[in-house]
Amino acid sequence: MAEQHTKSERLRKHLMDVIDQGLEPHSKLPAERDLATEFDVSRLTVRRALDRLANDGLVYRVQGAGTFVAAPRITKSVELTSFSEDMRARGLMPGSTTLISETVPAGAKLGALLRVSPSAELFHIRRARTADGEPMALEDSYLNPLLFPGLIDNVGGESLYKIMEDDYGLRLEWAQQSIRASVLEPEQARILHAPPFSPAFFVERTSYDARDVAIEYAESIYRADRYHYELEIHRAR
Ligand code: GLP
Repeated sequence: MAEQHTKSERLRKHLMDVIDQGLEPHSKLPAERDLATEFDVSRLTVRRALDRLANDGLVYRVQGAGTFVAAPRITKSVELTSFSEDMRARGLMPGSTTLISETVPAGAKLGALLRVSPSAELFHIRRARTADGEPMALEDSYLNPLLFPGLIDNVGGESLYKIMEDDYGLRLEWAQQSIRASVLEPEQARILHAPPFSPAFFVERTSYDARDVAIEYAESIYRADRYHYELEIHRAR
């Protein structure tokens, strides 16, 4: 009994690896009978492994058809998008004015996030972002100059993500983001043409490439009267 349990666990882990390594959602797993032959285990052992995977939401079964890879729990609609893409999706024309482009010491917090020493230099770019010409947000981006040589002299009104991709061949893959309520400090309010201390969203984002290298740390403050945050979310299975 215990041995059977270990075998089914081993098979379950193996199947998890296979799924992780790139089986597309909804692709069919081999039949129980074939898995049993391939791994030299009983069909009961195979069924146990598949039961666990199904309970964990990694696969689903269709009566008479077989077992299939489940779609990821978080839907693709929670996508990593740029300010420009966000605005275009809302039917607005994105714009950008660079207010600051400088080199600053990373310091402890950004050094740890971007995995450079606290004394290393980072590019700091502050941009006022507009939608149909109206001020919408202020964004402070911090980037490792070694990854983006010359970038500091070339940030114009263009999308930063597009520059990263087109000029530096760096594609962001995922990000850690937090959003919290805040207010516009008087200087921020002046730039964003809003009353001082009016409500705002403060968004912090650390973005990574496919190899989990942190590429950008950014703090953005959005006018709460002009911006709302919209997500399509699905009930966990
Ligand atoms: C979002 C992110 C920022 C990022 C920006 C890039 O607003 N919070 O971290 O810098 O998108 O936008 P764009 O490519 O339009 O410059």
